[in-house]
Amino acid sequence: MTAYAAGRYGRDMDTINAGLEGIVAAATRLSEVDGERGELTIAGFAVGELATHATFEETAWLLWHGDVPTAAEADAFRADLAARRALPAEVLHLLRGAADARLDAMDALRMATGALSLTGADAPRLLAAMPTIVAASWRLGRGQEPIAPRQDLGHAANYLFMLTGEPPDAERVRALETYLNTVVDHGLNASTFTVRVITSTGSDLVSAIVGGLGALKGPLHGGAPGPALDMVFEIRTADRAEAVLRAKLARGERLMGFGHRVYKVRDPRADVLAAAADRLFTRGGDRALYQLARDVERVALRLLEEEKPGRRLQTNVEFYTALVLHGLGFDVPLFTPTFAISRTAGWIAHAFEQKAANRLIRPQSVYVGPRGRTWAARQTPA
Ligand code: ACO
Repeated sequence: MTAYAAGRYGRDMDTINAGLEGIVAAATRLSEVDGERGELTIAGFAVGELATHATFEETAWLLWHGDVPTAAEADAFRADLAARRALPAEVLHLLRGAADARLDAMDALRMATGALSLTGADAPRLLAAMPTIVAASWRLGRGQEPIAPRQDLGHAANYLFMLTGEPPDAERVRALETYLNTVVDHGLNASTFTVRVITSTGSDLVSAIVGGLGALKGPLHGGAPGPALDMVFEIRTADRAEAVLRAKLARGERLMGFGHRVYKVRDPRADVLAAAADRLFTRGGDRALYQLARDVERVALRLLEEEKPGRRLQTNVEFYTALVLHGLGFDVPLFTPTFAISRTAGWIAHAFEQKAANRLIRPQSVYVGPRGRTWAARQTPA
């Protein structure tokens, strides 16, 4: 222990919990992540049960109200969201500027979400507008005009429609809905914690969601599926997997889509999404890519066990996210924004929960800098 570690406040370096690992900072009714059993419960449902049955609107309602909506509530909520999808002209203008400047898709989403304050943005408005922003931003980035939302389609179907202008078939809608439900909430992950910290200061919902977007963007959190898919593409054929992955590990690189702060066994979301990807790629799409990804996963797990023994590194949600979204025809810049479209429902639920029993989140730090310095006059150059 260094000399300054035993601080003057009686705290030492052993008490520092960098990364807040293992610290419980909130009680929540929204989701439970059991990292040892590999189980995720969302508002009482096992993730696979909810993901494959509910519409996304039903999942959002469940998180916001604690119970499954009645048929009348579900219809009213769906209609309310559908009516709030269109973007104000100022936000579209901002997205055109972001496309001209070739901004990262998550930067464009963060800026446009913040700009929703112009017309007032409550919870349903934020949830409803997010797919419209992402789709408009993506199309503008490809030199195409945005497609106006349709009110007769559900949240997932309308998002698919706004990307291509094609009415989506039921199977693609179900695959997207399964994805959106799977990643909607996940305990006190980094972006959700960010949302709760901002909410705990008494700040507004738009600020909290913008903060969540900033945290989600990072490659250690929501930014991993693009690199995970790139890794599969880079490997190209199963016989190259071992050499490519070994070289990455030898360079000290992380294998994207593997490892998790909480899960020490397989992330249950990976199984739900693997099944969804399997269905998508059986029906059409690039079956060979799906098979390659499964081979890459097998080799990666073997090498991680070999090179990082005892770290219990398993497949996480992002590996199969990449496959499902690719199977839906999405390109990489859409991956993290699509995650955000889903997680916004969870973030809002956490903001509600934080607000209902608020306590300012304010941890402490240990000062390890110098003390007792005196201010010397700056020397003037000769
Ligand atoms: N590839 C190679 N080695 C890894 C990986 C990986 N994917 N993940 C962890 N390790 C190694 C670390 O290098 C470290 O090794 P060391 O003990 O020899 O130094 C050991 O495993 C422990 O790693 P930590 O960084 O302490 O684990 P942490 O809990 O902080 O990391 C994280 C979790 C960030 C997800 C990490 O596993 C990672 O970087 N994975 C790749 C990125 C990724 O897939 N992110 C998506 C996560 S899911 C989500 O957020 C929705």
